[in-house]
Amino acid sequence: MGVYERIVILTGAGLSAESGLSTFRDKDGIWAKHRIEDVATPEAFARDPESVLEFYNNRRRSNAGVKANAAHDALARLEKEHPGEVLTVTQNIDPLHEMAGTCRLIHMHGEILKALCMHCGAKEPWEEDLTTELVCQICNKSGGMRPDVVWFGEMPYRMEEIYHALGACDLFMSIGTSGTVYPAAGFVQEARGAGAHTVELNLEPSHGASMFAEAVHGPATEVVPAYVEKLLRN
Ligand code: APR
Repeated sequence: MGVYERIVILTGAGLSAESGLSTFRDKDGIWAKHRIEDVATPEAFARDPESVLEFYNNRRRSNAGVKANAAHDALARLEKEHPGEVLTVTQNIDPLHEMAGTCRLIHMHGEILKALCMHCGAKEPWEEDLTTELVCQICNKSGGMRPDVVWFGEMPYRMEEIYHALGACDLFMSIGTSGTVYPAAGFVQEARGAGAHTVELNLEPSHGASMFAEAVHGPATEVVPAYVEKLLRN
């Protein structure tokens, strides 16, 4: 493996699993306990805002006190020590990449620790529970505060930047994601189209496993530090 100039990393819930956060599609995952159409769509929020806010209030609370793990640390090390460019694109809404020190980071599905006003579009850091009575600090209207999280049917954030980076990368790493949700699940094809080497680091083969030139299967805290070590040694 030569020295890569431009690395794009895509991460998913499997990266944070060993930090104690639930994934979505594992047997005891979030979607085994909740229906997406009840808690993670704009229609659900319009129909029953209290239930949707409570779902995210619980997830925000479960994020409290959670720590970055060795896989997050390894990715932050790669960004710091690799001579080329590194961009991390995460589907995760937790703050663990930032806690580990990653700087060039895109939260394409938003962030649990931010709130968004549906009336004026203002975004702000938010650690407490969200309720429908809350008044927006910017437009002073109530009833519009929601988690700044991208729901099914909504456009993920900063897609233009992401596709630009995928079209220019020479290494694409997909870590801890089942490859079931688009557009993220299609990023490997974009990277292949750009001639990049593509590798999947996951507990088990993902839905898109056959599209990767290389795959390393095992827990993220083992396979990610080992792969980063190999990259930095070259
Ligand atoms: N180490 C590495 N991989 C792991 C680990 C682990 N310790 N534990 C689980 N995994 C893998 C699983 O095998 C699975 O392939 O992580 C993947 C998690 O897949 P999902 O639960 O589907 O999570 P993700 O791919 O991030 O979901 C994508 O779907 O519901 C939406 O918006 C939500 O961002 C999320 C998107």
